[in-house]
Amino acid sequence: MTDARKRVLVAGATGYVGRHIIARLHDDGFVVRAAVRDRARAAAPGAYGAPALEGLVDEWVLAPGGAADLHPQAMADVDHVVSALGVTRQNADPWAIDFLLNLRYLELAELSDTESFLYVGVMNTSTGSSAVSRAKHAFMEALSRSRVSPQIVNPSGYFSDLTEIYDLAKRGMAFGLGDGSVRLSPIHGADLADFCVSHIGSGAGTWDIGGPEMLTYRDIVRLAFEAADRKPRYTRVPQPLASAAVWTADRISPRAGSLTRFFLDGMQTDSVGEPHGTHKLADYFSSLQR
Ligand SMILES: NC(=O)c1ccc[n+]([C@@H]2O[C@H](COP(=O)([O-])OP(=O)(O)OC[C@H]3O[C@@H](n4cnc5c(N)ncnc54)[C@H](OP(=O)(O)O)[C@@H]3O)[C@@H](O)[C@H]2O)c1
Repeated sequence: MTDARKRVLVAGATGYVGRHIIARLHDDGFVVRAAVRDRARAAAPGAYGAPALEGLVDEWVLAPGGAADLHPQAMADVDHVVSALGVTRQNADPWAIDFLLNLRYLELAELSDTESFLYVGVMNTSTGSSAVSRAKHAFMEALSRSRVSPQIVNPSGYFSDLTEIYDLAKRGMAFGLGDGSVRLSPIHGADLADFCVSHIGSGAGTWDIGGPEMLTYRDIVRLAFEAADRKPRYTRVPQPLASAAVWTADRISPRAGSLTRFFLDGMQTDSVGEPHGTHKLADYFSSLQR
């Protein structure tokens, strides 16, 4: 059951997942308010096949900077908040964005008596060693104590992120830690949006969500090589080299250290959620053939 004509504010609206969520909210008849940093960029198509937002958004909130830029008026008359806001490839401090900026949205939602706040996080934050995991975990703790009905959706890896494995396969390369037996259930943005939008306002909860297939890292590499029509080749990165990469990255910058830790944690920890959706990874890789 959807909550038609309710107003939903989406933070992180210009991201891979945010764009798919907005498309789904629009299709379901919600009043869509998108918080963006750059209106022109929002209007254009996103990366990895994510939709352009032009024509899908009813109301825009321009928040070009951090938490200080976000005014209470942004939350006026909002029934539900969805946040897919977080640092991925952006050059920013995860604490300032994943924790503090999300916290600012939450504080405004509490002040406006918003009904629910759905946050798209990531799995395994309680054991993750990166700054991104710690910042996300801290926000989830704050959200779970909020009087705004907290909904936390922790997805497995996104198809968008696995594009890099396909790009490497096209060049005849694949790298992994150990034997590649770590398991994932990668999910397409549209399938994740379907899960999130169909749960908006349905009550507090935490969900680990994946796509319809459970795959090992080696399976994913094989699918990438098949789509790229290259002979499979897998190079094991020895553990001491991974530790050396963290040591080096820490000395380059906190951001480089966090990204390296986040990536290596992901290569060593299963990330399998409740299966949802219909999109298959092999079809996504095939769609990348160019
Ligand atoms: N990729 C994965 O496999 C994966 C798996 C599980 C969970 N997640 C998490 O899911 C969430 C959404 O992922 P995604 O792939 O959709 O990410 P994305 O495409 O990078 O989108 C992130 C969103 O956050 C905004 N943002 C980032 N840094 C910002 C800053 N400094 N100031 C203001 N806004 C900022 C981006 O705005 P701009 O467009 O203006 O940069 C964008 O709207 C993230 O928290 C991510 O960590 C990702």
